[in-house]
Amino acid sequence: MSTGTMKKSHSQWSSRMGFMLAAAGSAVGLGNIWKFPYMAGEMGGSAFVLTYLLFMFMIGLPILVLEWLIGRRGQKNPIHTMEDVAVSEGRSKSWRWVGIIGVLGSFLILSFYSVIGGWATDYIALAAKGSFEGVTGEKTDQIFTDFLSNVNSLLTWHTVFMFATAFIVALGVGAGLERGCKIMMPGLGILLLVLVGYAAYASGPYFWVACKFLFSPNWLALNSTAILAALGHAFFSLSLGMGIMMAYGSYLGQDVNLLSTARTVVILDVVVAVLSGLAIFPLVFANGLQAGAGPGLIFVTLPIAFGNMTGGLVLGILFFIFLTFAALTSSISLLEPTVELLEERTPMGRKTATVVSSIIIWALGIACILSFNQWADVKLFDKNIFDLLDYLTSKIMLPVTGLGTIIFGAWMMNQKHIRNELNLSSSWFGIWSILTRFVIPVAVVTILIYGFL
Ligand code: PHE
Repeated sequence: MSTGTMKKSHSQWSSRMGFMLAAAGSAVGLGNIWKFPYMAGEMGGSAFVLTYLLFMFMIGLPILVLEWLIGRRGQKNPIHTMEDVAVSEGRSKSWRWVGIIGVLGSFLILSFYSVIGGWATDYIALAAKGSFEGVTGEKTDQIFTDFLSNVNSLLTWHTVFMFATAFIVALGVGAGLERGCKIMMPGLGILLLVLVGYAAYASGPYFWVACKFLFSPNWLALNSTAILAALGHAFFSLSLGMGIMMAYGSYLGQDVNLLSTARTVVILDVVVAVLSGLAIFPLVFANGLQAGAGPGLIFVTLPIAFGNMTGGLVLGILFFIFLTFAALTSSISLLEPTVELLEERTPMGRKTATVVSSIIIWALGIACILSFNQWADVKLFDKNIFDLLDYLTSKIMLPVTGLGTIIFGAWMMNQKHIRNELNLSSSWFGIWSILTRFVIPVAVVTILIYGFL
């Protein structure tokens, strides 16, 4: 089907602001609101949080910059960008494998990300129906278990979520991705502030308990599991190692300052994660709930708080709208690399490319849905389909692509050009080199080895 030729002129973001919001939209997602608080809860709070913050700036930021830089050089989908940039640097074409694994990774992640996005969407409806009113822990647990066993409703909401994702992506880079994030991101910011404000107001002294839990360092709680989890999460949270930021970089003009934009995106991502913690933990503590409740924290634990407080109905609805928005601005970024590839390398136009890839991803999502119920016993390497996809992508494909990107950027590309492009003084460039050539590769190899254990 591939014609092997480039066609159509390449789209561009209309402004630096639009690009920044789209990149931040990709970064801010279920990882910040769903995963980060429960990881912090499970891994002893502050020590985990501070380590994560350190990794975000020391490791996440340089890789983010490199992905954009490579994408902007290539101006194509991640696979052909890697190939072209490698050839222009006098390296082997095989570097395209970094792009191939990345695109494949984003494709696979979207199949289960959309299922969870569907949960968030359905929880808006549940909250609005008043399903949480006066609930106990047992009841919310029951609601969640029933929910996971109901194939029809999981399928409906997965379909709705995937449809919304495809709809935005089909509209294109400017009118879809950029405009969608320009609308959703400020909305998300406002919702988050309302939620934190309410948590502070409704939980009184427990707000400070939550602050202490999240920030006062307790280094004794820090073990190797927490350190590695923080490292892996820094990657996931910034959408790195998936071809996504490379694809976003390919729509970028030369005038955008990569370092300062990356700094803003990392700060926004961190702020949303921390504020989500501050919206959730005060309610958890004030209601005597478990901070270390794991993945069920926002679907099982939090509804108890919403169901038993004044204004909880509205707050619950707002919370799940917030979650859905955040998931949607990430899912559109997960679809983009595949669509960009198909659009450039096959005769398909953007709309057809979006429809075709969405249908395949949607179908794969059905397998994930069934793995929660009818196919719960279908296991490979002792994991059901959902867990297998999660494991394969975040523990293996993501670090492999991340490692490929960093080795390519730090050892294969002309460093003088990078220094000029980033406009770094010689001392800052010294720090940059140490980080990208040594510290980050070692860190990534460690996550990778740990992933196999
Ligand atoms: N960064 C997103 C989040 O925090 C998740 C994501 C991962 C999105 C990889 C795109 C690619 O939820």
